[in-house]
Amino acid sequence: MTAFQPAFPDAELGNNESRAVTLNGRNILVCRAAGDLYAVENRCTHQEAELEGGRIRGCFISCPLHGVRFDLRDGNPMGQLTRVPLSTFEVRLADGVIEVAV
Ligand code: FES
Repeated sequence: MTAFQPAFPDAELGNNESRAVTLNGRNILVCRAAGDLYAVENRCTHQEAELEGGRIRGCFISCPLHGVRFDLRDGNPMGQLTRVPLSTFEVRLADGVIEVAV
């Protein structure tokens, strides 16, 4: 069942930062990119590297291992290394806490 789960306080995530959190047994990466919140699977679809800490520019995050860029809005990758999108999740703010629908 998909339901919003609390992740962590909004104040703990700066702009253009990412933080991993386990929700419902899934490794989720919450990102703030250009001021907006996104949540994606924290596992690159190329060779399964964790994306936490990857460079965020605009609404894209770069995988720290080989640099594939993923669009945080829909999970779609750029370039040739992988064509498989990341799973994406709805995210919202509730009383200062980031919540993700997992
Ligand atoms: S594991 Fe992410 S680009 Fe290769």
